[in-house]
Amino acid sequence: MRISHRTPEGNEAYPHEIPQFGLGVFLMSEGGECKSSVLNALDAGYTHIDTARVYANESEVGQAIKESGVNRDSVFITTKLRRGHATGYEDTLEHCKKSLELLDMEYIDLYLVHAPPEDPEHRMPVWKAMEHCLEQGWVKAIGVSNYGAAHLEAMKDYASYMPCVNQVEFNPWLQRPQLKQAIEDAGAKVMAYSPLARGHKVDDPQLAEIAQRLGCTPAQVAIKFCYDQGCITIPKSSNPERIIENLASLEVDISEEMDAILALEENYVSGWDPTTEP
Ligand SMILES: NC(=O)c1ccc[n+]([C@@H]2O[C@H](COP(=O)([O-])OP(=O)(O)OC[C@H]3O[C@@H](n4cnc5c(N)ncnc54)[C@H](OP(=O)(O)O)[C@@H]3O)[C@@H](O)[C@H]2O)c1
Repeated sequence: MRISHRTPEGNEAYPHEIPQFGLGVFLMSEGGECKSSVLNALDAGYTHIDTARVYANESEVGQAIKESGVNRDSVFITTKLRRGHATGYEDTLEHCKKSLELLDMEYIDLYLVHAPPEDPEHRMPVWKAMEHCLEQGWVKAIGVSNYGAAHLEAMKDYASYMPCVNQVEFNPWLQRPQLKQAIEDAGAKVMAYSPLARGHKVDDPQLAEIAQRLGCTPAQVAIKFCYDQGCITIPKSSNPERIIENLASLEVDISEEMDAILALEENYVSGWDPTTEP
């Protein structure tokens, strides 16, 4: 999938190709867990890893990429500026360089502001620094995470490059049509995190029925739903079989059950939701 940044003149800047499916590595904090999961995922055919400074595993992601022997150019690495680090221009530059060092890479494919900086005064300088990281080539693309429509709207006053993605919770139980529209109107793609609602919903009886009718697993229905809605989709698993099962979602045709999946909507937030903060 192609991502790019809209300029105030309405042009596209810094286009980049992103694999629409990847492995999330949140809550892989046991030593070695992230590294072995990334190695299993690469072996299964994954080409995109979504990490963050706050996950404390960027170095394991970097080690796995090296050990796997894959070319740096054939994998896509997303990481994020920790919210507590999003406190100003210089801090942002410093933390981008630190992530490069931890990953032991020459560039990051996609660098995200993990959530709107808590102090609204910090939002502009943090984004200006993100733009600097882009112009320097330290990162190939920049975006945001957990930004609501109002946060995106405010960016139009100061961004030379609008974000190319907004990573937000998105799944059959939280479909966010208005937020999705606002993201697309800003020229960005939705990146769906927690496509399984952090595992809270994989045992949902209605989901199980849909999966049974389709002849696939419940997790595959939820993952393919996010994907078919046009979202970049990044389920997490540390389990080698589930890593393969989740990638195989892409082969499943869910179109006949779309109405039943759409009816699962219940505005369920599985973790946090800074999109509604002021
Ligand atoms: N930007 C943000 O604020 C933010 C917030 C949350 C997440 N994220 C990103 O999005 C990624 C995914 O979200 P998430 O980790 O919150 O949750 P998720 O992907 O919705 O769910 C992960 C949970 O589901 C289980 N699971 C995975 N595949 C399964 C399958 N096929 N069948 C049954 N259970 C399965 C996992 O257990 P096993 O590991 O044991 O398989 C884990 O407990 C994260 O890793 C992270 O990269 C970003």
